[in-house]
Amino acid sequence: MSEIITVIAPVNIAVIKYWGKRDEDLILPLNDSVSATLDTSIMCAKTSVCARPEFKEDGIWLNGKKESFYSPRLQNCLREIKARAAAEKSVNEDFLQWKVHVCSENNFPTAAGLASSAAGYACLVTALAKLYKVKSDVSSIARLGSGSACRSVYGGFVRWHAGTNPDGSDSVATQIADQAHWPEMQALILVAGDTKKKTSSTVGMRIAVETSELLKHRIKHCVPQRTEEIIQAIKEKDFPKFAEITMKDSNQFHAVGLDSYPPCVYMTDVSHLVSYVIHKYNEISGSIKVAYTFDAGPNACLYLLEKDVPQVISLIKHIFPSSNPDKFVTGLQSKEEPLSPVFMSICEPQKQDLIKYVIHTKVGDGPTEITDGSHLLNEAGLPKAE
Ligand code: PMV
Repeated sequence: MSEIITVIAPVNIAVIKYWGKRDEDLILPLNDSVSATLDTSIMCAKTSVCARPEFKEDGIWLNGKKESFYSPRLQNCLREIKARAAAEKSVNEDFLQWKVHVCSENNFPTAAGLASSAAGYACLVTALAKLYKVKSDVSSIARLGSGSACRSVYGGFVRWHAGTNPDGSDSVATQIADQAHWPEMQALILVAGDTKKKTSSTVGMRIAVETSELLKHRIKHCVPQRTEEIIQAIKEKDFPKFAEITMKDSNQFHAVGLDSYPPCVYMTDVSHLVSYVIHKYNEISGSIKVAYTFDAGPNACLYLLEKDVPQVISLIKHIFPSSNPDKFVTGLQSKEEPLSPVFMSICEPQKQDLIKYVIHTKVGDGPTEITDGSHLLNEAGLPKAE
């Protein structure tokens, strides 16, 4: 009988975006990408795993629902972890034959462009690696679940190297700086919609690779230089440089969406208004204080330094009134600060609830094993919630 292993894993939000695969099965990207890992105490996936001789088949429960284990991505992750365990001789042959049970949940909406699959696969792969006592880097296995998941295997600031090997062995994530390097760096996630996205990232990327000239230009001429520059900005804690590159790269990623045929549009009018407001705020401030970035959905992720959070929250509250003001900002606590009159004029208050809520968080650590016994599986290896 094996013990139950439980792990929590973070979300990551890219500042240099991954968009386009060179191999769809191995999930190999066309370009390097860079992200910050966000604090698991605010947003995380949690996964429990165990392997038992009495289990008849592999089983998986996601957010309280039994799902099929026969998804190619899931199968690839489990197969590769077992292959590593066999190569490292970390567990015996019998153990490798036993079936596994997996139970996982997110504490935030799934498929809302909030990087839930990244946290989910990083969590699954880290938990399985602990179960099978795999010691080597597992970012390339998390990548087989969801490309961006490989970056959630590490905390702080992370680079995913596109690599050049056809087998993907050099398409791995490495840490640029740990979470303690730039402790002032925080994030505000403005949730503009929590319904499922229109075009999945897989389909959106495929159309872009097949049709977008801009994607070719971006990969060859823009991303390599931006990647080097943003890594330097992170190392030197140069916020204005970090922010400028982040915004330009988000804009270019969405321009690639528009350049795709048929176009893939993820930003909404609310997203564009957020982008306008941030540019005005930075202009009036006289320096770049806030960066926006948008993934494959309408939600904005704002990166900013802790000292600027109270003023920016006041600005967001002013422009985007909520019908539930007490619950509007969740996550970290921050001081209240009245909005300076010069910022009032940026934009008139909009109709209520265009932004549903805001998650205030910060850069955080990578996946962590939970040892307080709060497993999602019971002693029999079945979901506790059932
Ligand atoms: O890993 P996927 O398939 O969910 O793709 C993620 C794509 C973006 O979030 C838009 C960009 C990124 O680098 O995370």
